[in-house]
Amino acid sequence: MSEPRKIIIDTDPGQDDAAAIMLALGSPELDILGITTVAGNVPLSRTSTNARIILEFCARTDVKVFAGADKPIARPLITAEHVHGKTGLDGPELHEPQMPLQTQHAVDFIIETLRSEPEGTVTLCTLGPLTNIATALEKAPDIAGRVRELVMMGGGFFEGGNITPAAEFNIYVDPEAASIVFQSGIPIVMMPLDVTHKVLTLKSRVAELRAIGNRPATALVEMLEFFERFDVEKYGSDGGPLHDPTVIAYLLKPDLFAGRDCNVEIETASPLTVGMTVVDWWQVTGRKHNARVMKDVDADGFFALLTERVGRL
Ligand code: RIB
Ligand code: CA
Repeated sequence: MSEPRKIIIDTDPGQDDAAAIMLALGSPELDILGITTVAGNVPLSRTSTNARIILEFCARTDVKVFAGADKPIARPLITAEHVHGKTGLDGPELHEPQMPLQTQHAVDFIIETLRSEPEGTVTLCTLGPLTNIATALEKAPDIAGRVRELVMMGGGFFEGGNITPAAEFNIYVDPEAASIVFQSGIPIVMMPLDVTHKVLTLKSRVAELRAIGNRPATALVEMLEFFERFDVEKYGSDGGPLHDPTVIAYLLKPDLFAGRDCNVEIETASPLTVGMTVVDWWQVTGRKHNARVMKDVDADGFFALLTERVGRL
């Protein structure tokens, strides 16, 4: 096997974030340099607690957790307890984490890591609002040219939004941060709702995860059974969209996904559509391509990968 791929996971756990982190932990192709937390689904103190709970469920307290931004760049924080529950990880019985939170701020960890690792070797995997990444770019513009790739869950185009008719939650919480990131020149791979709404936690798929029987899988199933209730009720679907692990799955098996290079701009002004990702899928604007936007996914292949890797924990 070639050298493991160095990644930083920036996250707002969140039950689907937990699935993404477990997928990464079960994959030796990846070297997790650190986990950085951001305010999003729930406030920062809770996302920082949740990241450590997830690592302790997986007996991986060797991975360091750095707390980042406690609110968006230019707006008040909007959270999603209505989806994720008060803790953000509702479902399993949760303990108070014993492992420490690093004292270094997440933004400084991101900057320091990108400057110290060889250029073009670190991949940023973002699972929440882009506040930490945008703040790092503002503080240290030189890091933009050092990032290998930024693979992010966020946005939507034909699928619309999920927190408003036009906007997906991660972008809506901090549209200014998203605009900074999409204008940064960093090679971006975008996993929008158009993809994540195709990876539903069908009962048969959850049963496969439950059959694993280890502690991480048991906790994950309890998280998903809580998390999916909101989307099942909203969309009348069998299971809910498992958004965040698509980011990690792309690193492991990119051929599970299909999309195209597009121009993506972020609406930051209109009260009606703020947070919208305006994706030029049909290439009508002539604007510069700044993201590889995914649209289709092999859902069965995705869940087979997730199940196999969680089974290794
Ligand atoms: O809109 C879905 C995204 O918002 C996911 O990352 C979920 O965890 C929430 O952060
Ligand atoms: Ca998330």
